[in-house]
Amino acid sequence: MMSARIVIGAQFGDEGKGKIVDFFSEKASLVVRFNGGNNAGHTVVVGEKTFKFHLIPSGAVQGKECCIGAGVVIDPRVLLEEIEMVKKAGKTVRLFIDARSHIIMPWHRELDGAREQAKGDKKIGTTKRGIGPCYADRASRSGVRFCEFVDPRRFRPRVKELAARKAAELEKLYGLKPGFSAESVIKEYTGYAPKLRDFLADCSVKVNNAINSGKNVLFEGAQGAFLDNDFGSYPFVTSSHPIAGGVLVGAGIGINKIEACTGVVKAYTTRVGSGPFVTELSGKLAERIRKAGAEFGTTTGRPRRVGWLDLPLLRTSHLLNNFSDLAITKLDVLTGLKEIKVCVSYKLGEKELSLVPADSLKLEECKPVYESFEGFELPEKIEQFSDLPENARAYLQFIEKETGVPVKIVSYGPKRKETLNLL
Ligand code: GDP
Ligand code: IMO
Ligand code: MG
Repeated sequence: MMSARIVIGAQFGDEGKGKIVDFFSEKASLVVRFNGGNNAGHTVVVGEKTFKFHLIPSGAVQGKECCIGAGVVIDPRVLLEEIEMVKKAGKTVRLFIDARSHIIMPWHRELDGAREQAKGDKKIGTTKRGIGPCYADRASRSGVRFCEFVDPRRFRPRVKELAARKAAELEKLYGLKPGFSAESVIKEYTGYAPKLRDFLADCSVKVNNAINSGKNVLFEGAQGAFLDNDFGSYPFVTSSHPIAGGVLVGAGIGINKIEACTGVVKAYTTRVGSGPFVTELSGKLAERIRKAGAEFGTTTGRPRRVGWLDLPLLRTSHLLNNFSDLAITKLDVLTGLKEIKVCVSYKLGEKELSLVPADSLKLEECKPVYESFEGFELPEKIEQFSDLPENARAYLQFIEKETGVPVKIVSYGPKRKETLNLL
């Protein structure tokens, strides 16, 4: 018997994946990150304690074994801070880092900032954590892998070779003085390496063995489907693959190893950074939802753009990910609104679209077609589906009908216990 579940964001990230992964972690043996880096910010709230994870899988709160897979890019300084955070909370760090994962170097962060600045008002609004440049170097075969980083004999000549080239790029293309030298990088990073060396592993082997021996394995997605490098609203995307397909290449497993794929869906839509957002709201209503949902970035603190739920987006997300079930989060944030709108299709000129167009420029031109729902007030105690007010049930059932995916989890507050389990 094998059992593996993917938990991924169905929208633009920040759907509440951390909370849902924590929820599923109780029954998991191994929790695995497969994409992204510390552009992610995953929040887990247990009682009075709040954890914000950027690299370590959220399963660490439940004390589970955690893998950082080959598809992840790692900023060692951020990872070390996070390990300290977990230790301070009295938890044991049971971490495995794939030898193939890539290291974010100081030049990646500086180039991220420089490229954004050079784009002016066309900027992507990245997290400036060096994610894009690190993945670009991976693809062009000039990256530094974790196995090289922890081996000083290989690391030193690699840095010498790369630092000069990257410094020249910053100086010549962007007119910037690099904040690093080969020696400063070697000194800094060889200080980190001994603290991380023991985590070196082959996560592909570990994950496959766990699945084959019947253990519960959870894959924790970072970002969301529409930030996917291929299928998101390019170029306003991240540089990895947050969709379900990303699990196979990011963790190193075969196609038939997965049993379930949970799409995490915020009961409305948010987006940080630039790019098309068909259902975006502004003014008082946007302020109200942003405030009620505390919609400020976990990683950068930026205010998130907010809008109504977008069904063409969710239908397309299901097409890309083949969800077995949905976890709807932040239903409580809609409490007290008189009217709740849902975008059921897009108008593109004379055409009506039920799915997201492949060309982002066309998505930019789409206008939302809305259906209205009456608002609801959630009760204090929600133990079963029937405890939800009729209008809230109608809202959830409409999502199920329109996406064709059953809603199996309803989250109505940030805390672990504020979760309705319909599985
Ligand atoms: P992630 O990146 O998908 O893990 O999501 P983030 O952690 O970046 O953002 C989600 C935010 O919403 C966090 O502050 C969570 O604590 C919070 N949250 C999660 N689920 C709920 C919910 O059902 N209701 C409310 N009010 N907040 C929630
Ligand atoms: P979690 O895992 C929301 C966005 C950035 C920017 C774009 C590219 O917490 O859901 P990058 O730094 O990756 O090159 O930025 O992607 N972005 C996220 N938005 N949640 C995230 O992660 C994000 N990670 C990146 O805001 O628009
Ligand atoms: Mg987040």
